[in-house]
Amino acid sequence: MRRPVIVRTLPSLRKAIADLRRKRKSIALIPTMGALHEGHLSLVKRASRQAGAVVVSIFVNPKQFAPTEDFGSYPRNFERDVAALSKLGVDLVWAPTDAAMYPDGFSTAVSPSGPAQVGLEDAYRPHFFGGVATVVAKLFLQVTPDFALFGQKDYQQLKVVTRMAQDLDIPVRVVGCATVREKDGLAMSSRNVYLSPEERQTAPVLYRVLKESAGRIKAGEPMAAVLADGRARIEQAGFKLDYLEARHAETLAEVKGPADGPIRLLVAARLGKTRLIDNLGV
Ligand code: PAJ
Repeated sequence: MRRPVIVRTLPSLRKAIADLRRKRKSIALIPTMGALHEGHLSLVKRASRQAGAVVVSIFVNPKQFAPTEDFGSYPRNFERDVAALSKLGVDLVWAPTDAAMYPDGFSTAVSPSGPAQVGLEDAYRPHFFGGVATVVAKLFLQVTPDFALFGQKDYQQLKVVTRMAQDLDIPVRVVGCATVREKDGLAMSSRNVYLSPEERQTAPVLYRVLKESAGRIKAGEPMAAVLADGRARIEQAGFKLDYLEARHAETLAEVKGPADGPIRLLVAARLGKTRLIDNLGV
């Protein structure tokens, strides 16, 4: 149990990073918005195996929430997060204030296209990837990590961030990590706390549909029919479906069938007030 160094301003971050570099440590960064669960912690554990020093950022980024979304009510539990990270031997927690990240007069944004404009999350949260790309570019430049770990849970985000780092020549290796699930298959998410007990029972339907659909597509059933069945099942379970789509696993472009390349199934649906996303390879 070793409490990580906690820094909240850019000068103290730079000093802490310089100290790690002086010890010739390679640095891994895990960007988060806090409310940490086993999904986040799996990234931390993977990072400790890969790098000499582990930095976790905790920042609920206002720029990736629309005014109608849950920025105000997003779960925040800094002390509990730090306690969990202490157990894993994290070196540094970068928890900037809003003013440290976006000082008065802040006027620059990273505007991703490519995988950020394929009609999935971007169609329902138009401001989202601009906010993510801007904050992640800043985090990469602030922390200067050798590696940065992201979950496949947010599959489109992983592709957007990978492309952004490549396009902006930021010398970081973006590593994608498997989705951690509850026993019944529900992908862990900070937003799962919003689910009522009844909604929590229904929520694993998303993963069940992904798994069955992937199996049927692999077995050669026509993709359009499989997806139509999946959409109907999700709606019958009580969700409001945003999308259930099969896309090219790398470009996220539309595909007609398995011959078009590796396929990823992606889903987003709302259960009461909670919006859930998930995805699975075919
Ligand atoms: P947040 O939702 O806190 O997630 C932080 C990281 O944890 C992301 O890379 C996400 O994909 C990963 N993660 C979340 N749930 C996971 C699970 N069940 N299994 C594996 N990994 C999981 O994603 C964000 O924050 C923000 O958009 C951020 C990148 C920090 C930019 O603000």
